[in-house]
Amino acid sequence: MKSISLDITKAAQFLKPGAIQEYEPKVKAAQEALENGTCPGNDFLGWLHLPSSIKPEFLDEVQTVAHSLREMCDVIVVAGIGGSYLGARAVIEALQNSFAWLVRQKGTPAVVFAGNNIGEDYLSELEDCLKDRNFGVINISKSGTTTETALTFRLLKKLCEEQRGKETAKDVIVTITDAKKGAARICADKEGYKTFVIPDNVGGRFSVFTPVGLLPIACAGFDIKALINGAADMERATGKHIPFDQNIAAQYAAVRNALYNEAGKKIEIMVNYQPKLHFISEWWKQLFGESEGKEHKGIFPASCDFTTDLHSMGQWIQEGERSIFETVISIEQPNRNLLFPSDEENLDGLNFLAGKRIDEVNKMAELGTCLAHVDGGVPNMRISVPTLNEYYIGQLLYFFEIACGISGNVLGVNPFNQPGVEAYKKNMFALLNKPGYEAESKAIQARLK
Ligand code: PA5
Repeated sequence: MKSISLDITKAAQFLKPGAIQEYEPKVKAAQEALENGTCPGNDFLGWLHLPSSIKPEFLDEVQTVAHSLREMCDVIVVAGIGGSYLGARAVIEALQNSFAWLVRQKGTPAVVFAGNNIGEDYLSELEDCLKDRNFGVINISKSGTTTETALTFRLLKKLCEEQRGKETAKDVIVTITDAKKGAARICADKEGYKTFVIPDNVGGRFSVFTPVGLLPIACAGFDIKALINGAADMERATGKHIPFDQNIAAQYAAVRNALYNEAGKKIEIMVNYQPKLHFISEWWKQLFGESEGKEHKGIFPASCDFTTDLHSMGQWIQEGERSIFETVISIEQPNRNLLFPSDEENLDGLNFLAGKRIDEVNKMAELGTCLAHVDGGVPNMRISVPTLNEYYIGQLLYFFEIACGISGNVLGVNPFNQPGVEAYKKNMFALLNKPGYEAESKAIQARLK
């Protein structure tokens, strides 16, 4: 079986000779600390060996629940935010037909995502769309108290019960949450919903290989065993005994830190040339942003979809402030085969491309852009993925997880907490006069006078 690979040569040329090698001891120490559980946030390392430890029987159970939801629903709404939805959405959008809503086959429910915003129009429009459709709900929240998800679940539960009756609604509502605590757990136990547990030691953004990712992905009809196989193979390929120069996660972590510390590159742009990968970048942004952005440190993770964004952000990347580097996810073989058409009139002058694979044109856009950006002072790394399927996406996601664990430790932060995300919640609750926030409400009102 092939593997994803990493080319760092066009990033290394921006660093002094030996600069990447200098990170080897730090990277090794970070890997040791992860393995030995001696790093900061060591109570959140359950993701590290998750792929290789998942039992086939557990995947069978997830598939059985997915099968039942698929039988009973035309639409399955996944309610979750951040780590509780981005992994599933990333995998599903990478694998499904780009126009899935137009070509949906009978027996394949649409998997849609909500609970990730507080948009009144969004939620009301969702209700309108669900009113006359058989829908089910996967409610995902580790804490069980996240406002966006809890609000959405209230609306969906009510609508589902009105539509199917309370008894039947139970068969199409699944909760994925903490084993014991939180509102989602209490509600699920009270109502008798099927539940899956998010392990205590797996944080939201590292949870794609738990039921958080697996159940929605299986509901969309994709092969979760192949996904886990890919992740488990990458777990082996990036283990601490793999030599530094052969370990792509160690290399990626080292280059990022070297570019940040030695070359002043503060922004990493994750680039793809396949629109299906948009949500892989969204998932990656959360993974690295929430893991590394703390103590006033950390690379800012950004993303672009090329060639689309070359017509909007291309100018900035080529000639703006030189504080950026790019990491390109390149898909070696598309799943389809389509040729550039010939045109008798050739008004656009593009007949010289007629008969070529469209992917060949895309690949030349990719290479041409890489060379132009490197010439313009933008270091460039390239992750090659043999093709888009469950197995290689499993590899890719685990590669980013382990690289993030290493990179955050090299940076010197705790990659597994997110204290900063509480600040907006505190203000929001104070502004909304949440009981228990009386002092904060008073203080914030005084600030606003
Ligand atoms: O990575 C994280 O921990 C966060 O993105 C959470 O997943 C997100 O805030 C949702 O939290 P919860 O699952 O508790 O609703």
